[in-house]
Order: sequence, then structure tokens, then C-alpha cells
Amino acid sequence: MKVDSHNNYDYIESNEILKKYPMEKRFTLAILQDVQKKYGFIPRETMTYIAEYLSLPVSDIYSMATFYKALSLKPKGKYIIKICNGTACHIRGSNVLIEAVTEELNIRPGETTDDGLFSIEIVNCLGACALAPVMVIDDKYYGGMTKEKVKLVIKEYKEAVINE
Ligand code: FES
Repeated sequence: MKVDSHNNYDYIESNEILKKYPMEKRFTLAILQDVQKKYGFIPRETMTYIAEYLSLPVSDIYSMATFYKALSLKPKGKYIIKICNGTACHIRGSNVLIEAVTEELNIRPGETTDDGLFSIEIVNCLGACALAPVMVIDDKYYGGMTKEKVKLVIKEYKEAVINE
């Protein structure tokens, strides 16, 4: 197993993940989920390792990694901001929250800020419709959000990082 010296990821870890699974195609998704959990995304090199391990073409691994929303080919930010766009949140103005968060961070949904701190994701119902419209940062729920509140919360996170 090689170690990619061009970045900070020690890909030997993905070998540890592979060893947990039999060399069978049906474990592809489970392996990818473990890699996603470990690195926060699916590094390109790990796809090659997985393909070799399962004797599959890399394109198969790539297809699966791009098909599932829970898997990402790009590193995500330290904080994942999820804006719910399910029906209840949509009716109560989730678009305004999306606008606020994109304005505040200067990135679009699916992107990560250059400093690696924030990613924005638009998601379906987060199971807290009574609090609509809802924003979640990591596991923390913010209900009844307005444009002003969104900006305030993000500012708090930015300040917290500065004071770390
Ligand atoms: S629709 Fe947003 S939490 Fe249910």
C-alpha cells in the first residue's frame, strides 16, 4: 500500500478499512462510507485502492462515489451548514436562509470556503418541521431562522474559530 506524500492524508488508513471487508463487490458502498467517515471525503487515491482490492474498474468506484449524496469527492469544511429545503421549511422561507448563508460565506451550496471552515449543503426534511425553517451546523439545530439570525450564527462560528 502506497502513501501519497503530496498531501496530508495517510492512505494507509484506507488499507485498514479495506481489511475489515471481504473482497466482494457488494461491500463497495460500506467501504466508501468508511472512507468518507475517516477523511470527510473520498480521496481519489483511495478509489484506486478500493478498485484493486475488489478487482473492479476504478470507474465503478467513481460512479458509486458520485451517485450517493452522502459521499463527497471534495474535502468538506470543518463546519457543515445544512439548510433544510423540505416542504415545511420551503414554505416558511428556506430560500431566504440559503440566500443569507451564500451571501455571508461567498460560496454556493455544495462548495467549501477557501479557508476550509464552512461547507453549505441543501438537504431535505431534517425531521424538525415544527422549527421550520431550520438550519443545522454539525449536529446543532437552529430553528425559526431568519436572514439576520443566519448571519449572526455564522458570525459566532467565525469568532469562535478566531478565539480557538
Ligand atoms: S421540512 Fe425542514 S425540518 Fe422538515
